[in-house]
Amino acid sequence: MKATIIYHSESGTTRAVAENIAKGMIEEGLEVKCFSIDDVDADWANGSCCLIMGTPVYSADVSGKMKMFLEKMPGLNVAGKLGGAFATANYAYGGGELALQTILTHMMVRGMLVYSGGGAAGKPIIHLGPVVCKQAADCLEDVQTDWGRRMARKAKEIFR
Ligand SMILES: Cc1cc2nc3c(=O)[nH]c(=O)nc-3n(C[C@H](O)[C@H](O)[C@H](O)COP(=O)(O)O)c2cc1C
Repeated sequence: MKATIIYHSESGTTRAVAENIAKGMIEEGLEVKCFSIDDVDADWANGSCCLIMGTPVYSADVSGKMKMFLEKMPGLNVAGKLGGAFATANYAYGGGELALQTILTHMMVRGMLVYSGGGAAGKPIIHLGPVVCKQAADCLEDVQTDWGRRMARKAKEIFR
């Protein structure tokens, strides 16, 4: 069972979070590849049951590059896949959840099944997806891998 994580990252923070999320998904038995938004393997992504997208927060929203990608989703057939979103930001109140909302909305427009776990997945409560503040990225590693496990468990429940 394959999964894809697509991220935009200029200075490495969002890429590192993508890799931590992938670690948790791999622990649950999924085959996971992370791709920079500039270099997506569409065949792998189209063969995946789960697509997770990560963005740096720019002006309390996704980056412009991520917005363009979301509008076109070049070469991707994503309808019916499980979708999730994460973001990185400088500030705890810097607009991260609005960025998640943008990704999740685009996924719904494309017919994806969006998920994060919410309160039903227990602590830490993650309603829409992880928003990782740059300065705290290292110490929140466990939360990132745990969220990856949650996404993978839901993918297995739906698609196995
Ligand atoms: C143009 C620009 C706009 C930004 N706007 C915000 C913002 O509104 N809120 C915030 O918390 N961080 C903001 N940031 C900080 C980035 O979201 C943060 O540093 C992010 O972790 C960078 O990810 P990267 O290392 O993967 O490129 C901004 C950064 C840039 C370059």
